[in-house]
Amino acid sequence: MRPPMPPFHVMEVMRAAEERAQAGGEVLHLEVGQPSTPAPTAVREAAAIALREQTLGYTTALGLPELRERIAAWHRSTQGVVVDPARVVVTAGASGGFVLAFLTAFAPGDRVAVTAPGYPCYRNTLEALGIEPVVVELDPAESYALTPDLLERHGDLDGLVLASPANPTGTMLDETSLDAIAAWCEHRGVLLVADEIYHGITYDRPAAPALGRCDRTVVLNSFSKYFSMTGWRIGWMVVPDELAQSVERAAQNLYICAPVLSQFAACAAFVATEELDGHVHRYARNRSILLDGLHAAGLLRHAPADGAFYVYADVSHLGLPASELGRRWLDELGVAVTPGIDFDARRGEDSVRFSFAGATAEIAEAVDRIGAWVVEHGRPAGR
Ligand SMILES: Cc1ncc(COP(=O)(O)O)c(C=O)c1O
Repeated sequence: MRPPMPPFHVMEVMRAAEERAQAGGEVLHLEVGQPSTPAPTAVREAAAIALREQTLGYTTALGLPELRERIAAWHRSTQGVVVDPARVVVTAGASGGFVLAFLTAFAPGDRVAVTAPGYPCYRNTLEALGIEPVVVELDPAESYALTPDLLERHGDLDGLVLASPANPTGTMLDETSLDAIAAWCEHRGVLLVADEIYHGITYDRPAAPALGRCDRTVVLNSFSKYFSMTGWRIGWMVVPDELAQSVERAAQNLYICAPVLSQFAACAAFVATEELDGHVHRYARNRSILLDGLHAAGLLRHAPADGAFYVYADVSHLGLPASELGRRWLDELGVAVTPGIDFDARRGEDSVRFSFAGATAEIAEAVDRIGAWVVEHGRPAGR
């Protein structure tokens, strides 16, 4: 029997928070990495119509042609890149895309760079497929930015998985930095796997797209975050020609097609911009409340939070490992946060990820309680 995959610790935090809530305890949710809003109205209406009018049998493995065309059009209108719908693959969330991308692009034993801090499921999925994740530690003093220099230090690589904006840091690579990384990938023959799931959730500039910078790029995206459709389990990939056929065959074999009701519903997501941008405005308000509150509490060292809905903050001066701090904040304050160990196996006990995707009042109350706790227990001025 294979050993079980490592846990995704945030799920354990969510369980502890859930248990507390079920026992009648109050929980302010700063651990969840998902919108607190439902799918846009137009999406829910499209789902209702599809339920009434469609058979909802299998689609082809690559997805509904109409949805693939709309996704390609979205790349053109929001990113200015021309994408042939034939290269768009509808997946069961970005997570479904990881499996397809890693399985088809890499062979067992290949070496694929992932960042620390970074989204843990890349590493765990690569390992489950016998691919070696090569952890590239990012430097907080450099705003957790990935550079070709850092990559250069890790020997021969077959691939690089990169998210911008990133989870847990929210850090974004600008056009020039992304160009440099893409050029490095091109030069080294490294496949760039760009996770663009947080595109659309940015605060002072749009996220730079990966497409069009180097030939061998796989883009992963999802309806889970900007489009507020986490539970619908729907996302997409844009694959290079060289992978199109193997991805199609893998999808046929692994899950036949992405959930079909969600595919019909997602066709309507691209007209819901006003509603969805409203959520981003709320995240922006939450972000400034959280940052102000953390600063007032002396939690001054954190990643820039350019995009996504997270602040990744150093809590090492508080004198407790982040997982212990997380337990205490949940028990004593009813505030749930995610310890950094999910995202950085070596240094994660020094940091906490705060999600500000929830309700504004909840974020404000949580950060007040944390501030008061720090005054009572910690050394708020930092190291
Ligand atoms: C960076 C990143 N990629 C992918 C995912 C998974 O997304 P999906 O719901 O589309 O499977 C998440 C979820 O939090 C994430 O943060």
